Amino acid sequence: MAQPKEKEEQSLKSIVAVSKRRGFVFPGSEIYGGLSNTFDYGPNGVEVLNNLKRLWWEYFVHRRDDILGLDSSILLHPRVWEASGHVSNFNDPLMDCKKCKTRLRVDKFLEDKEGDGAATGKSLEELTNHIKEKGYACPSCGSVGTFTEARQFNLMFKTAHGASEEGAMDIYLRPETAQGIFINFKNVNQISRKKIPFGIAQIGKSFRNEIMARQFIFRTREFEQMEMEFFCEPGTQKEWFKYWVDYCMNWLTNVVGLKAENLRVREHAKEELSFYSDSTSDIEYKYPFGWGELWGVASRTDYDLTQHESFSSEDLKYHDLEAKKKYLPYVVEPALGLNRLFLAVMCDAYEEQTLEKEDIRTVLHFGKRVAPMKVAIFPLMKKDGLDAKAKEIYQDLLPHWYVDYDESGAIGKRYRRHDEIGTPFCVTVDYDTLQDGTVTIRERDSMKQERIAITSLKSYLFERIL
Ligand code: GAP
Repeated sequence: MAQPKEKEEQSLKSIVAVSKRRGFVFPGSEIYGGLSNTFDYGPNGVEVLNNLKRLWWEYFVHRRDDILGLDSSILLHPRVWEASGHVSNFNDPLMDCKKCKTRLRVDKFLEDKEGDGAATGKSLEELTNHIKEKGYACPSCGSVGTFTEARQFNLMFKTAHGASEEGAMDIYLRPETAQGIFINFKNVNQISRKKIPFGIAQIGKSFRNEIMARQFIFRTREFEQMEMEFFCEPGTQKEWFKYWVDYCMNWLTNVVGLKAENLRVREHAKEELSFYSDSTSDIEYKYPFGWGELWGVASRTDYDLTQHESFSSEDLKYHDLEAKKKYLPYVVEPALGLNRLFLAVMCDAYEEQTLEKEDIRTVLHFGKRVAPMKVAIFPLMKKDGLDAKAKEIYQDLLPHWYVDYDESGAIGKRYRRHDEIGTPFCVTVDYDTLQDGTVTIRERDSMKQERIAITSLKSYLFERIL
């Protein structure tokens, strides 16, 4: 059942608040008054990002013999973006309110009013007329009939490459990591001698000058992508496409641990497909503001390699020595946004529990591999040797996991702080520890506490944290 709008907004607000309070995500350039739609990831946020990247790399590169890694430049030759079609086609339709100067992305504006796909297939003129006919008001100032005509806006950030202004060449910050993979297809193929089908994966920053950047970290101008281009023989792309959609869903549910009921696959209708794609599906997550694209899986045919072959005049064909044939492979691409995944993980993990006496506990139920810290060690008091014993245990665990040592405030408050960070286990050292060598270990989700010997602490944790 859909949540009422206020509740949805409230739950996103709570996630934004805990993100700041517990050092996951800070607003960007805050001490200078902020820079809209930029975010900095704090000490716990960067741990979650790194854990997600590591889990993706393990599943998509290390555990397979048919995928290799790459780290290509953010700055690429400008011809790359002419060849890929980004210079001419990577546009969003925009319009301005002449009264209050608010800038709107027309397709999203219409979708918000009339539902998914409302703008699909409409020309700029049709969009302009449709909005006029419906008499839609500006969402900022409420004026009617004050919109400019819809026009195209290219989303790539331009910058200059070169020291002197005269000699500088206009280049772009990459809007996707994928093209860096395509232009290295020949290099990787030559050094690896992999046989088709094989893939190339990379993780890196991408930049898009989004017209309507919004919903916290969901749509930002700077973000990180985890993309993999899987090169296969023409004619086999349909089965690989299905394979990769299933593989990605499996990673999200079984490795990252997202709840299956918050995920769905949405197949693109024919009229929605990009001109180079013969099938595309989005894996969507149920964010507090509704279903939104998390991971795009696209069958891109041989479009990109054909374009780069033609623009660079390099032969990019694959030589199948056994079958004695040369061809441009087809490509299936699972393209995931790391920051959107981070937001999905936060939404999935977040819970406010009402305990006895109306006491509210905020807890992040992260999967153990995703949680920023795995264990926190607390001395009951900062005296009588309890702190020294707790530090000893902390030092002993450090080589194995990212562990926190916390000696400030009441124990209950320290538990609550780590509930909000999503730390799976808290270990308390008390006076009995000094007598019998045992500690109390508390599990985050159940809040159950048990007494175990320090000597078995590591094996206890190894069994429970992968
Ligand atoms: N190479 C194909 C490609 O880039 P895309 O659907 O435009 O496809 C892939 O992007 C993924 O990147 C999206 O599913 C989303 O998770 C993420 N993404 C795209 N634009 C984004 C933005 N402005 N902010 C955050 N994430 C974004």
